[in-house]
Amino acid sequence: MAERLRFGILGTGGMSHGHARAILERDDATLVAIADPSDRAMDSLVSRVVPAGLDPPARFHDLDALVSHGIDALVIVTPHTQHAGQIARALVSGIHVLCEKPLATTAADARRSMDLASAHERVLAIGYQRHGQAQFRQARELVTSGALGDIRLISVLIAQDCLENFIPGSSWRADPALSGGGHFIDTGSHIVDQMLWISDLEPERVYAEIDNFGTDVDVITAASIKFTNGARASFAATSLSGESWREELTFYGTKGTMRLGRADGLSYQLKGGDRIFPRAATAPDVRPIDDFVEVIHGRRPEPQAPSICGLRVAQVTEAAYRSATSGRPEPVG
Ligand SMILES: NC(=O)c1ccc[n+]([C@@H]2O[C@H](COP(=O)([O-])OP(=O)(O)OC[C@H]3O[C@@H](n4cnc5c(N)ncnc54)[C@H](O)[C@@H]3O)[C@@H](O)[C@H]2O)c1
Repeated sequence: MAERLRFGILGTGGMSHGHARAILERDDATLVAIADPSDRAMDSLVSRVVPAGLDPPARFHDLDALVSHGIDALVIVTPHTQHAGQIARALVSGIHVLCEKPLATTAADARRSMDLASAHERVLAIGYQRHGQAQFRQARELVTSGALGDIRLISVLIAQDCLENFIPGSSWRADPALSGGGHFIDTGSHIVDQMLWISDLEPERVYAEIDNFGTDVDVITAASIKFTNGARASFAATSLSGESWREELTFYGTKGTMRLGRADGLSYQLKGGDRIFPRAATAPDVRPIDDFVEVIHGRRPEPQAPSICGLRVAQVTEAAYRSATSGRPEPVG
């Protein structure tokens, strides 16, 4: 058996539980410590996730104490604007990092994190789970294989019934000082990432109209994106929806069209042909933790969601927020 990686988790709220379970399911990793200012959040993680009979992880209230405990790898599951500082603290201490999305709330922070990871020769991965899911991998393969020709237009919609997250006082998500923004930087982060990762296109400029709907953060976003090759995307995001979750990406290429949706799965149609629903991939989904451990052990060359994806998303997000303020298209960079 490989030497067990000593894991810490920073931030023990809702999203941390799945990561903790994934760590505990492996025989080459162990969860030695957790940290959160909230004892209640730590209680909840331990009682729901750590099986009876297993030594519970040590508990701390901040990252410094967690680092002093001695860990090899850290999973960061905290409010968005804290990510960059926490990533830096861990990397300079020689700790590998898997950070939840978004990697950073600014492109400058994302770049600094990438530079630190390479200077300290540590793995820096993002918890974008769609990169490990068969349907999204198939979609990327279809586009990057050239089967659809050149992608000239992408149409994207993410609609959720989650306005309550952004009502002032409801949670850190409603406070821009902690969240860095609303729905576009939160769930929108996954979908911007998918648009960029599947298409492999490089964004050049973004024009965005944003409605905060009386909150302090974006609730509804309509954005238009131009890519360096002249292709365009139209991107709509709303947390004000009667449907609980609709997620749709359509890629229009010179040879065919591919659609990917939470409700309808993956399909594509080449010009003049029938709509094809490709056979589901036989390879199992790969969870972010499993991929992260494999990369640390050198069994995979790089994370399935590498930090460059976090930089690209931060660039588009920043440009969209700038554009909503300036009223003009803003360059990505
Ligand atoms: N990949 C996904 O599908 C997905 C889904 C949900 C959330 N997320 C991401 O996970 C992260 C956390 O979201 P959540 O839904 O778990 O939020 P949450 O509110 O449930 O949990 C956040 C936790 O962080 C703790 N915290 C705050 N400041 C801290 C600090 N300085 N040090 C340590 N802990 C601190 C809070 O006390 C809380 O327990 C965010 O980045 C979010 O975008 C990802």
